[in-house]
Amino acid sequence: MSIEKVGVVGCGLMGSGIAQVAAQAGYPVVVREVSAQLVEKGLKSIEKNLARLVEKGNLSSADRDEIRGRLRGTTNVEDLKECDLIMEAIIEQLPAKRELWSSLDTICPKSAIFASNTSSLSITEMATFTQRPDRFVGLHFFNPVPVMKLVEVIRTIGTDPKVYDEVLTFAGKLGKTAVRTTDRTGFIVNRLLVPYILDAVRVLEEGVASIEDIDNSMKLGCGHPMGPLTLLDFVGLDTTYYIANIMFDEFKEKRFAPPPLLKRMVLAGWHGRKTGRGFYDYADPAKPRPMHLS
Ligand code: CAA
Repeated sequence: MSIEKVGVVGCGLMGSGIAQVAAQAGYPVVVREVSAQLVEKGLKSIEKNLARLVEKGNLSSADRDEIRGRLRGTTNVEDLKECDLIMEAIIEQLPAKRELWSSLDTICPKSAIFASNTSSLSITEMATFTQRPDRFVGLHFFNPVPVMKLVEVIRTIGTDPKVYDEVLTFAGKLGKTAVRTTDRTGFIVNRLLVPYILDAVRVLEEGVASIEDIDNSMKLGCGHPMGPLTLLDFVGLDTTYYIANIMFDEFKEKRFAPPPLLKRMVLAGWHGRKTGRGFYDYADPAKPRPMHLS
């Protein structure tokens, strides 16, 4: 059975991006959030992104209207029952995921495939919340989803190879480059990225260089689009701290341990761009100013 209609659970930053690329690829999409306000907020952000593409001449108004017409928002999980593939991008907390997957498992037909966008939780563990571990995979997208070309496709020891191939084909139809990986915390990208950005915080903590000089070094010396501390502010200090702790717990290796400065900043509520303060102050978002952290 091929994937014809998709469901997305969670319409925040990642979920709305995933819903957008699926609709742009021609799939009818049902997107579910917990409240009508959150459904509206998520759909508005997609409309804003599509409007930007029209303004730039990258999308016609007619195509925009068709894409928007393929998206249906709902607060009712029952509305996902006709979807062949359900992609979950809700809060990174296992109890919330457990509740969602076990209710979807009873609502959806046995043929439906389940995929989580988790960046750090175990896909194998999530699959045990259902009666379909053979039809359970990870589909890990990157922020901003409409721009980043990669998707990690994660199989567990229980994933049916035919289901895995079907999801790889689907990822390609979204216009993404799919990489194959297994269920190890952090998969490929975060396994490599998280120790790198944590090291950037250590370099700052040890007084080796300033915030701007650390960022400029990696931008101008290595051609990265963002320096590591700007990237940390972009991903969210709280999110990175959470992922690092899970990775440390899994591998017990020092390189995954969050540095004390990161922990203090998270405790202080300086979570990066979304809270207006992190390694930079975003009072003027167009001109972030490095913070004084000592
Ligand atoms: N949604 C849609 N499109 C967006 C966007 C968004 N949120 N942000 C930027 N864009 C588009 C812009 O419209 C622009 O499009 P055009 O080229 O058609 O004009 C293009 O992206 C470039 O944007 P800008 O010129 O405004 O800015 P930029 O050149 O600095 O690019 C960036 C912005 C794409 C975010 C770039 O800085 C970048 O690639 N940064 C690194 C991002 C990254 O590493 N993401 C992964 C984070 S890790 C993760 O997500 C996984 C995890 O588990 C933590």
